[in-house]
Amino acid sequence: MERGERIESPDEMTPEYREHLVHLMLMQADSELAGGYGYVPWITKAPTVEEKHVVSQIVKDELRHATVMYGLLADLGFDVDRHVQAHDETFRMRIAADADIGTQRITSDKRVNIFYYPIDTWADFVFFNFCMDRGAGHQLEDVRQSSYGPWARAIEGIFKEEKFHIRHGEYWVKRLAEDPATHDEAQATFDKWYVRTLNIFGRPGSVKNQRYRAYRLKLRDNDEVRQAFAAEVAGLCEKFRLVVPPWTPRWSELPEEAQIPG
Ligand SMILES: [Fe+2]
Ligand SMILES: [Fe+2]
Repeated sequence: MERGERIESPDEMTPEYREHLVHLMLMQADSELAGGYGYVPWITKAPTVEEKHVVSQIVKDELRHATVMYGLLADLGFDVDRHVQAHDETFRMRIAADADIGTQRITSDKRVNIFYYPIDTWADFVFFNFCMDRGAGHQLEDVRQSSYGPWARAIEGIFKEEKFHIRHGEYWVKRLAEDPATHDEAQATFDKWYVRTLNIFGRPGSVKNQRYRAYRLKLRDNDEVRQAFAAEVAGLCEKFRLVVPPWTPRWSELPEEAQIPG
Protein backbone atom coordinates (compact mmCIF):
# COMPACT_ATOMS: atom_id res chain seq x y z
CA MET A 1 0.00 0.00 0.00
CA GLU A 2 2.83 2.39 0.84
CA ARG A 3 4.14 1.86 -2.69
CA GLY A 4 0.75 2.96 -4.01
CA GLU A 5 -0.44 -0.55 -4.86
CA ARG A 6 -4.17 -0.93 -4.68
CA ILE A 7 -6.53 -3.51 -3.30
CA GLU A 8 -8.84 -4.80 -6.00
CA SER A 9 -10.94 -7.56 -4.44
CA PRO A 10 -12.40 -8.66 -1.08
CA ASP A 11 -10.03 -11.62 -0.73
CA GLU A 12 -7.08 -9.21 -0.50
CA MET A 13 -8.61 -7.42 2.55
CA THR A 14 -8.16 -7.95 6.26
CA PRO A 15 -11.47 -7.92 8.21
CA GLU A 16 -10.54 -4.54 9.70
CA TYR A 17 -9.81 -2.98 6.30
CA ARG A 18 -13.13 -4.28 4.97
CA GLU A 19 -15.00 -2.91 7.99
CA HIS A 20 -13.56 0.60 7.54
CA LEU A 21 -14.17 0.51 3.80
CA VAL A 22 -17.80 -0.60 4.16
CA HIS A 23 -18.40 2.12 6.76
CA LEU A 24 -16.96 4.90 4.58
CA MET A 25 -18.66 3.76 1.39
CA LEU A 26 -22.02 3.31 3.14
CA MET A 27 -21.81 6.84 4.51
CA GLN A 28 -21.31 8.08 0.96
CA ALA A 29 -24.02 5.83 -0.56
CA ASP A 30 -26.67 6.87 1.99
CA SER A 31 -25.73 10.54 1.55
CA GLU A 32 -26.03 10.32 -2.24
CA LEU A 33 -29.50 8.79 -1.94
CA ALA A 34 -30.76 11.16 0.77
CA GLY A 35 -29.25 14.09 -1.17
CA GLY A 36 -31.05 13.16 -4.38
CA TYR A 37 -34.39 12.69 -2.57
CA GLY A 38 -34.07 16.11 -0.92
CA TYR A 39 -33.77 17.83 -4.32
CA VAL A 40 -36.86 16.20 -5.87
CA PRO A 41 -39.38 18.94 -4.90
CA TRP A 42 -37.17 21.48 -6.70
CA ILE A 43 -37.76 19.82 -10.06
CA THR A 44 -41.19 21.47 -10.03
CA LYS A 45 -40.31 24.52 -7.91
CA ALA A 46 -37.17 25.72 -9.80
CA PRO A 47 -37.62 29.21 -11.28
CA THR A 48 -37.46 28.38 -15.02
CA VAL A 49 -37.98 25.43 -17.34
CA GLU A 50 -34.21 25.28 -17.93
CA GLU A 51 -33.61 25.17 -14.18
CA LYS A 52 -36.20 22.41 -13.71
CA HIS A 53 -34.19 20.40 -16.22
CA VAL A 54 -30.92 21.17 -14.38
CA VAL A 55 -32.43 20.06 -11.05
CA SER A 56 -33.77 16.85 -12.57
CA GLN A 57 -30.30 16.20 -14.01
CA ILE A 58 -28.76 16.73 -10.56
CA VAL A 59 -31.33 14.33 -9.02
CA LYS A 60 -30.41 11.77 -11.69
CA ASP A 61 -26.69 12.28 -10.95
CA GLU A 62 -27.17 11.71 -7.22
CA LEU A 63 -29.25 8.58 -7.79
CA ARG A 64 -26.55 7.34 -10.17
CA HIS A 65 -23.89 8.02 -7.52
CA ALA A 66 -25.98 6.10 -4.97
CA THR A 67 -26.37 3.17 -7.38
CA VAL A 68 -22.63 3.06 -8.08
CA MET A 69 -21.77 3.18 -4.37
CA TYR A 70 -24.34 0.54 -3.36
CA GLY A 71 -23.01 -1.59 -6.24
CA LEU A 72 -19.49 -1.42 -4.78
CA LEU A 73 -20.92 -2.43 -1.39
CA ALA A 74 -22.79 -5.36 -2.95
CA ASP A 75 -19.47 -6.52 -4.48
CA LEU A 76 -18.17 -6.83 -0.91
CA GLY A 77 -21.12 -9.02 0.06
CA PHE A 78 -23.09 -6.23 1.75
CA ASP A 79 -26.87 -6.76 1.67
CA VAL A 80 -27.89 -3.51 -0.04
CA ASP A 81 -31.59 -4.28 -0.52
CA ARG A 82 -32.06 -5.10 3.13
CA HIS A 83 -30.24 -1.93 4.17
CA VAL A 84 -32.19 0.38 1.87
CA GLN A 85 -35.53 -1.18 2.81
CA ALA A 86 -34.74 -0.86 6.52
CA HIS A 87 -34.06 2.89 6.47
CA ASP A 88 -36.13 5.90 5.55
CA GLU A 89 -33.79 7.92 3.39
CA THR A 90 -36.55 10.39 2.57
CA PHE A 91 -36.58 11.68 6.13
CA ARG A 92 -35.96 15.43 6.41
CA MET A 93 -36.36 17.33 9.62
CA ARG A 94 -39.07 19.94 9.71
CA ILE A 95 -37.07 22.44 11.69
CA ALA A 96 -36.64 26.19 11.88
CA ALA A 97 -34.65 27.61 8.97
CA ASP A 98 -31.85 28.75 11.28
CA ALA A 99 -31.73 25.60 13.44
CA ASP A 100 -28.35 24.18 14.39
CA ILE A 101 -28.17 20.46 15.15
CA GLY A 102 -24.37 20.51 15.22
CA THR A 103 -23.17 17.00 14.51
CA GLN A 104 -26.17 15.20 15.99
CA ARG A 105 -27.40 12.00 14.33
CA ILE A 106 -31.14 11.42 14.09
CA THR A 107 -31.80 8.44 11.82
CA SER A 108 -30.23 4.99 11.72
CA ASP A 109 -28.92 5.25 8.16
CA LYS A 110 -25.35 6.47 7.68
CA ARG A 111 -25.94 9.73 5.81
CA VAL A 112 -23.88 12.78 6.74
CA ASN A 113 -26.10 14.78 9.08
CA ILE A 114 -26.26 17.88 6.84
CA PHE A 115 -28.79 15.86 4.77
CA TYR A 116 -31.32 16.10 7.62
CA TYR A 117 -31.81 19.82 6.97
CA PRO A 118 -34.69 20.71 4.69
CA ILE A 119 -34.17 22.66 1.48
CA ASP A 120 -36.94 25.21 1.70
CA THR A 121 -36.00 27.91 -0.81
CA TRP A 122 -34.22 28.21 -4.15
CA ALA A 123 -31.41 30.00 -2.29
CA ASP A 124 -31.13 26.93 0.00
CA PHE A 125 -30.82 24.72 -3.07
CA VAL A 126 -28.03 26.70 -4.73
CA PHE A 127 -26.10 27.47 -1.52
CA PHE A 128 -26.25 23.77 -0.67
CA ASN A 129 -24.56 23.05 -4.02
CA PHE A 130 -22.11 25.90 -3.42
CA CYS A 131 -21.11 24.78 0.10
CA MET A 132 -21.86 21.10 0.56
CA ASP A 133 -21.07 19.75 -2.90
CA ARG A 134 -17.80 21.69 -2.70
CA GLY A 135 -17.05 20.27 0.76
CA ALA A 136 -17.81 16.79 -0.58
CA GLY A 137 -15.53 17.44 -3.55
CA HIS A 138 -12.64 18.22 -1.20
CA GLN A 139 -13.20 14.97 0.65
CA LEU A 140 -13.48 12.98 -2.58
CA GLU A 141 -10.02 14.27 -3.59
CA ASP A 142 -8.63 11.80 -1.05
CA VAL A 143 -10.78 8.95 -2.34
CA ARG A 144 -9.40 9.46 -5.86
CA GLN A 145 -6.00 8.42 -4.53
CA SER A 146 -7.25 5.84 -2.04
CA SER A 147 -6.05 2.25 -1.72
CA TYR A 148 -9.29 0.60 -2.90
CA GLY A 149 -9.10 0.54 -6.71
CA PRO A 150 -12.80 0.08 -7.57
CA TRP A 151 -13.81 3.01 -5.34
CA ALA A 152 -11.03 5.30 -6.61
CA ARG A 153 -12.06 4.64 -10.23
CA ALA A 154 -15.78 5.08 -9.53
CA ILE A 155 -15.06 8.46 -7.95
CA GLU A 156 -13.67 9.87 -11.22
CA GLY A 157 -17.13 10.02 -12.85
CA ILE A 158 -18.86 11.10 -9.64
CA PHE A 159 -16.31 13.87 -9.19
CA LYS A 160 -17.00 15.33 -12.67
CA GLU A 161 -20.73 15.43 -11.98
CA GLU A 162 -20.19 17.03 -8.57
CA LYS A 163 -18.13 19.74 -10.32
CA PHE A 164 -21.17 20.52 -12.46
CA HIS A 165 -23.33 20.85 -9.30
CA ILE A 166 -20.75 23.15 -7.73
CA ARG A 167 -20.53 25.34 -10.86
CA HIS A 168 -24.33 25.58 -11.01
CA GLY A 169 -24.39 26.63 -7.35
CA GLU A 170 -21.66 29.17 -7.97
CA TYR A 171 -23.46 30.76 -10.94
CA TRP A 172 -26.56 31.33 -8.81
CA VAL A 173 -24.70 32.38 -5.67
CA LYS A 174 -22.95 35.11 -7.68
CA ARG A 175 -26.27 36.20 -9.16
CA LEU A 176 -28.16 36.28 -5.83
CA ALA A 177 -25.28 37.92 -3.96
CA GLU A 178 -24.71 40.67 -6.53
CA ASP A 179 -28.37 41.62 -6.94
CA PRO A 180 -29.28 44.19 -4.23
CA ALA A 181 -32.81 42.74 -4.13
CA THR A 182 -31.55 39.29 -3.08
CA HIS A 183 -28.21 40.10 -1.42
CA ASP A 184 -29.43 39.91 2.18
CA GLU A 185 -31.21 36.60 1.63
CA ALA A 186 -28.04 35.28 -0.04
CA GLN A 187 -25.89 36.28 2.94
CA ALA A 188 -28.32 34.75 5.47
CA THR A 189 -28.57 31.51 3.49
CA PHE A 190 -24.79 31.34 3.10
CA ASP A 191 -24.34 31.79 6.88
CA LYS A 192 -26.48 28.71 7.50
CA TRP A 193 -24.97 26.30 4.97
CA TYR A 194 -21.37 27.39 5.46
CA VAL A 195 -21.36 26.54 9.18
CA ARG A 196 -23.27 23.30 8.56
CA THR A 197 -20.68 22.30 5.96
CA LEU A 198 -17.74 23.05 8.30
CA ASN A 199 -19.29 20.55 10.73
CA ILE A 200 -18.98 17.63 8.29
CA PHE A 201 -15.20 17.35 8.31
CA GLY A 202 -14.61 15.89 11.78
CA ARG A 203 -12.12 16.96 14.38
CA PRO A 204 -8.39 17.50 13.86
CA GLY A 205 -5.98 14.73 14.77
CA SER A 206 -8.68 12.08 15.28
CA VAL A 207 -7.56 8.53 16.00
CA LYS A 208 -9.97 7.11 13.43
CA ASN A 209 -8.60 9.43 10.76
CA GLN A 210 -5.09 8.18 11.54
CA ARG A 211 -6.27 4.59 11.13
CA TYR A 212 -7.88 5.43 7.76
CA ARG A 213 -4.65 7.09 6.66
CA ALA A 214 -2.62 4.03 7.67
CA TYR A 215 -4.84 2.04 5.28
CA ARG A 216 -4.71 4.82 2.67
CA LEU A 217 -8.50 5.11 2.78
CA LYS A 218 -7.82 8.78 3.47
CA LEU A 219 -4.72 10.85 2.83
CA ARG A 220 -5.12 14.01 4.89
CA ASP A 221 -6.07 15.04 8.39
CA ASN A 222 -9.72 16.10 8.79
CA ASP A 223 -8.78 19.70 9.51
CA GLU A 224 -6.47 19.93 6.50
CA VAL A 225 -9.42 19.12 4.24
CA ARG A 226 -11.60 21.62 6.11
CA GLN A 227 -8.98 24.36 5.68
CA ALA A 228 -8.70 23.68 1.94
CA PHE A 229 -12.49 24.04 1.63
CA ALA A 230 -12.57 27.21 3.76
CA ALA A 231 -9.75 28.86 1.78
CA GLU A 232 -11.51 28.24 -1.54
CA VAL A 233 -14.82 29.60 -0.23
CA ALA A 234 -13.12 32.67 1.27
CA GLY A 235 -11.67 33.57 -2.14
CA LEU A 236 -15.05 33.29 -3.86
CA CYS A 237 -16.86 35.27 -1.15
CA GLU A 238 -14.48 38.15 -1.63
CA LYS A 239 -15.46 38.27 -5.32
CA PHE A 240 -19.19 37.96 -4.63
CA ARG A 241 -19.20 40.44 -1.71
CA LEU A 242 -20.36 37.85 0.81
CA VAL A 243 -19.04 37.91 4.36
CA VAL A 244 -17.66 34.63 5.69
CA PRO A 245 -19.46 34.05 9.01
CA PRO A 246 -17.42 33.41 12.14
CA TRP A 247 -17.18 29.78 13.21
CA THR A 248 -16.08 28.75 16.65
CA PRO A 249 -15.33 25.06 16.53
CA ARG A 250 -16.57 23.04 19.46
CA TRP A 251 -14.16 20.18 18.90
CA SER A 252 -15.51 18.07 21.71
CA GLU A 253 -18.88 18.02 19.97
CA LEU A 254 -17.51 17.21 16.53
CA PRO A 255 -17.53 13.60 15.43
CA GLU A 256 -14.34 11.63 15.86
CA GLU A 257 -14.23 11.10 12.13
CA ALA A 258 -14.94 13.15 9.08
CA GLN A 259 -18.00 12.19 7.13
CA ILE A 260 -17.73 11.42 3.46
CA PRO A 261 -20.64 12.91 1.63
CA GLY A 262 -21.29 12.90 -2.09
FE1 LIG B 1 -24.04 16.71 -5.85
FE1 LIG C 1 -23.32 12.99 -5.49
